[in-house]
Amino acid sequence: MKTRVTEIFGIKYPIVQGGLAYLAYAELAAAVSNAGGLGQITAATLRTPERLREEILKVRTLTNKPFGVNFAIARHDGQYQELLEVAIEEKVPAISITGANPQPVFERIKGEDMKTLVLVSGVRQAQKAEELGADAVMAVGQEGGGHLGRDDIGTMVLVPRVVDSISIPVLASGGIGDGRGLLAAFALGAEGIEMGTRFIATQECVHANEKYKQEILSATETDTVVIKRTLGSPGRVLKSEYTQGIIQREQGGATYEDLKDMISGKANARYIYDGSKTEGFGWAGQIIGLINNIPTVQNLFDEMIVTAETGLARVNNIIEGRTDE
Ligand SMILES: Cc1cc2nc3c(=O)[nH]c(=O)nc-3n(C[C@H](O)[C@H](O)[C@H](O)COP(=O)(O)O)c2cc1C
Repeated sequence: MKTRVTEIFGIKYPIVQGGLAYLAYAELAAAVSNAGGLGQITAATLRTPERLREEILKVRTLTNKPFGVNFAIARHDGQYQELLEVAIEEKVPAISITGANPQPVFERIKGEDMKTLVLVSGVRQAQKAEELGADAVMAVGQEGGGHLGRDDIGTMVLVPRVVDSISIPVLASGGIGDGRGLLAAFALGAEGIEMGTRFIATQECVHANEKYKQEILSATETDTVVIKRTLGSPGRVLKSEYTQGIIQREQGGATYEDLKDMISGKANARYIYDGSKTEGFGWAGQIIGLINNIPTVQNLFDEMIVTAETGLARVNNIIEGRTDE
């Protein structure tokens, strides 16, 4: 496979593992990079410069392939700068930025040999990222797990809109988890994909509690809901009494202060690490409806490539008027 994304990031497959709070540590990032994609560790979860540096060094003991560090800059409460310094000092090959205006990050890394990805949920953000000098954007639609755009635009419409609006490469994100999604992304004009939820159900996602993985396997596409909509920062989670409780409180007029414990990183970690559905929640996208195994990342990629090839042959048959089967 060859697109501008594989060329810019020096990877075999244009598949990026999204920043995954409390899950994206060295084991998963290295597995993704070793399998030919771009793995990432998540700076926000590591919190301190020391821990981030340790984790970067750990990735480097597990792979010699390119990898990235994710910066969800709103969630650092202004503390991301010192983590960014570590990424610069350690000369990480790539960073991804989400959560707020990325301008200060671009100003700081000017002149550094570091590739950049910006997660966007709309055309205006994508144009801004291009103006700032991003190497590529990842356009995430409403199907996605975790934080979303406020405008409820699905991947199918968002991706071609963004592709038509900028000239840097676009990666499609949100609702992609198999070779059909990969092929569809290319058909929409994307030059790669980002996946989040799919990577939770992999062998190398060692930080996810077995209950989280099993729930992703058994759930269907109707088993997610969007929380925090009334707070202006919508995010897709697994449906449960706990997450329905958040929504009910929101509908009852609850403020951020009222909800902050229920929606905190600690509550997220309680579900991820302990599997506690009564005291925590887990981010997940609608793609859970299509996830039914826990492969290694390598096996996942192998299968995705075969499925994309088969799908392409099928599409060719249809377009050329041969029978579908
Ligand atoms: C469990 C989970 C945690 C996430 N945490 C982050 C994060 O810390 N930083 C980030 O940029 N995106 C985060 N995201 C969003 C993903 O990077 C990605 O954009 C999204 O999962 C794509 O949609 P998909 O889940 O349908 O693949 C998270 C998503 C999930 C499912």
